[in-house]
Amino acid sequence: MKRLGVNIDHVATIRNARGGAHPNPLEISKQAIKFGADSITIHLREDRRHINDNDLKKIVKTKIPLNLELACDYKMMKIALKNNPTFVCLVPEKRKEITTEGGLNLIKYFKKIKFIVNRLNNKKIRTSLFINPSLRDVLYSKKINAKCIEIHTGKLSNLIKTNKNYKHELKKIKRCSKYANSLGIEVHAGHGMDYKTAKILSKIDEIKEFNIGHFIIGEAISIGLMNVIKRFKKIIRK
Ligand code: PXP
Repeated sequence: MKRLGVNIDHVATIRNARGGAHPNPLEISKQAIKFGADSITIHLREDRRHINDNDLKKIVKTKIPLNLELACDYKMMKIALKNNPTFVCLVPEKRKEITTEGGLNLIKYFKKIKFIVNRLNNKKIRTSLFINPSLRDVLYSKKINAKCIEIHTGKLSNLIKTNKNYKHELKKIKRCSKYANSLGIEVHAGHGMDYKTAKILSKIDEIKEFNIGHFIIGEAISIGLMNVIKRFKKIIRK
């Protein structure tokens, strides 16, 4: 069975736009699990632009399987070790990027990433590396001793959305998934996915987990609008 991780960062983005408490990431996490999500993903960014330390603390206190995305940074590693989430996915992070733009540079930061992964492995936190679909990066993930990889599907998603030829990119993802699986690394996919991308990628047997955020929250607003408007019309009727 393939698993779905729901990234709720943009619930916090909407909350932060007004600085209040609504919508509440903890409540949305509980609902997502109730409706069938297998885990919740949050990215604690250095600038705390959406999820903050308090959100993390509240969610780890529950039994919700939590996938914490973190930059490869010793301060962030200490936060993970202290809070003990179920999973950690290491991601590259640039302060000015709108969203995670590409996979990790495993060669440049080999020692640092290996050190952080080992510390997390020792604490029995499932480790994952967010990488581009490159065979070399899969091999380096093995050398680093990561238990999983998450393949960056942003490029594939953009090609599909803009009706461009995506076959080559899909082939790269397939090849990396098979290679990682043969090395005993569990394969995940994430970034930019919508219904169509998820459907195409779900045909790759080796991909065991999908982590999807922006589209799910966007669709939730779209699909949920009817109920909220109906409720308000009922309240103000007189
Ligand atoms: N996986 C990783 C590692 C990410 O950094 C992100 C974006 O935060 C996602 C998945 C989810 O991407 P999206 O919001 O585009 O679905």
